Amino acid sequence: MKRKETKGSSARGDGYHQAARPGHRSIVIRVDGRPVPAVEGQSVLAALHAAGILALRRSDLRGEPRGALCGMGVCFECRVTVNGRPGGQACLTAVEDGMDIRTDGY
Ligand code: FES
Repeated sequence: MKRKETKGSSARGDGYHQAARPGHRSIVIRVDGRPVPAVEGQSVLAALHAAGILALRRSDLRGEPRGALCGMGVCFECRVTVNGRPGGQACLTAVEDGMDIRTDGY
């Protein structure tokens, strides 16, 4: 779903826009090798969802795509590889400029 661009915001990502609030800096992270815009202070999960990236890992049993369920550190369905370290919970990890996120390799 494409959202209407409003004054003071900028269109980014895959149809969604993120506007940094005053005091929050716009940054870029890399997700599976491609640049994704983010806002300083937001979680990795929020940045991924804003970019339309919902499948974060594969199920251990059948290899089906899995996505975040709780958004608060309970379900562990949001595990991604953060800067080469596997098993990071995207919902509990704050974005950092230039951060490298891998979604499918866990
Ligand atoms: S979304 Fe449930 S632990 Fe991160």
